[in-house]
Amino acid sequence: MTQHVEIFDTTLRDGEQSPGASMDEHEKIQMALQLERLGVNIIEAGFPIASNQEFEGVRKVAEAIKECRVAALARSVPGDIERAAAALEPAVSPVLHTFIATSDIHLEHKLKMSREQVLEAAHNAVSLAKRLVPRVEFSAEDATRSDLDYLVAITKVVVAAGADVVNLPDTVGYTTPAEIRHMFEYIIANVPGSEKIVFSSHNHNDLGLAVANALAAVQGGARQIECTVSGIGERAGNTALEEVVMAMRTRQEIYPYDCTIHSRELVPSSTLLSKITGLTIPYNKPIVGRNAFAHESGIHQHGMIANALTYEIMTPESVGRKRSELVLGKHSGRAGLANRSKELGYELNAEELAQLYEKFIALADKKKEVYDDDLRMLIVSMHNESFETYHLTQVRTSGDDPAMALVKLRKGEAEYMDTATGDGPVHAAFMAVERIIGIAGKLEQFDIRATTPGKDALGEAYVRVDFGGKSYKGNGASTDIIEAAVQAYVNAANKYLALAQGSMEHPAIQIAQVP
Ligand code: KIV
Ligand code: ZN
Repeated sequence: MTQHVEIFDTTLRDGEQSPGASMDEHEKIQMALQLERLGVNIIEAGFPIASNQEFEGVRKVAEAIKECRVAALARSVPGDIERAAAALEPAVSPVLHTFIATSDIHLEHKLKMSREQVLEAAHNAVSLAKRLVPRVEFSAEDATRSDLDYLVAITKVVVAAGADVVNLPDTVGYTTPAEIRHMFEYIIANVPGSEKIVFSSHNHNDLGLAVANALAAVQGGARQIECTVSGIGERAGNTALEEVVMAMRTRQEIYPYDCTIHSRELVPSSTLLSKITGLTIPYNKPIVGRNAFAHESGIHQHGMIANALTYEIMTPESVGRKRSELVLGKHSGRAGLANRSKELGYELNAEELAQLYEKFIALADKKKEVYDDDLRMLIVSMHNESFETYHLTQVRTSGDDPAMALVKLRKGEAEYMDTATGDGPVHAAFMAVERIIGIAGKLEQFDIRATTPGKDALGEAYVRVDFGGKSYKGNGASTDIIEAAVQAYVNAANKYLALAQGSMEHPAIQIAQVP
């Protein structure tokens, strides 16, 4: 008989911990709404004790999400648990997720606690969490390197304290399928009343085994899988949601488990994540990579023409991959644009729609065909304007040696202009931006890529810039890649100004009042 497996998505918490994947509040909400459409059961929204911004992010997600449970992470200490419970307060179905390490190596070197002290801390944490939030998950960090009988002991303790879910993570991506399956079988067999709680598996991908380990854990009795979209996460990442779900769907005879995921939302979820974070999806990434359904060799193409089953174990449509579709033309009206945006999952208010329409017409003027991904990119980049202190109005460059750039930025009613030289046009333009704003940053990352096919493609630019010792992410989109790059740089600088500094004086030349 098919059994149900819950999908616990931690893209916004463990995934967000991966370098380059940080998201602000607005981006978290956008991603959370997509996860809701995808059909995950639980969205882990963050670690509220980490910062006020993180607390607000969790709270906003808890307010926005109605169909899934929303989880927040807390160490097994009262301050963390109280803060997580407060962030979850608006959630329809909150889950407080508390954890403590259980391996001797963590106890000795990190926690400096004895096994007995950890049992007591876990008991106290779960009891407190249970008084504050109706559903509690307990994680035994580094479970796969912990003593099995100690795991049995701590599971008994947290179950007695009221835990509803017990998660046994492979924190360092060390275990193997046979080993993890045995771990779940052993714990479940030795904890009285284990049938009343949900066992969960959370795996990291250091040895490339995260998906295989998650599937083996389910065979061993786990009924919840913790995973992230595109497998993003600490170090080598977490179990990739799309891979584990499609493995169960495609090999039902081996994995007779079902879940609530709407598989046609898999590619859109991965695309949105990549647009928000700037992280590129490798071309050969299973399910969501650009080449995952491309058949290059003649023999394969011949087979595909004869019958797709020869080389295709699932259809691209089933995971939401379609050829980028022409959405709208230059003469499309606002109603058409609103309609298509809605179909792509964006609920825009009248003001946002007006803003999008303006951007859409400007793009359609430059580009013959506007695709779904172009539209997604415009919507994602529109959010930049909520941070906007400076707005790029013009950039002109020459590629001479040294390269030169002239940049104009608007701030409120005033427009500023400056010029600079640099090692190339992009460098020169970034220097001109810095001269206008009066701050200097260190460029840590710079990526440019095309949103859609064609010579007139929209170029997406992503930067990560260190301003004042902290990294800020910025993105921009334009058919002109230098303009996209400068937009991205200005976006990162605006975030720095908005989040870290407040207002600034302007050393650059003020050239006009914008009416
Ligand atoms: O990897 C891990 O152990 C974790 C826990 C906090 C669940 O992320
Ligand atoms: Zn983890």
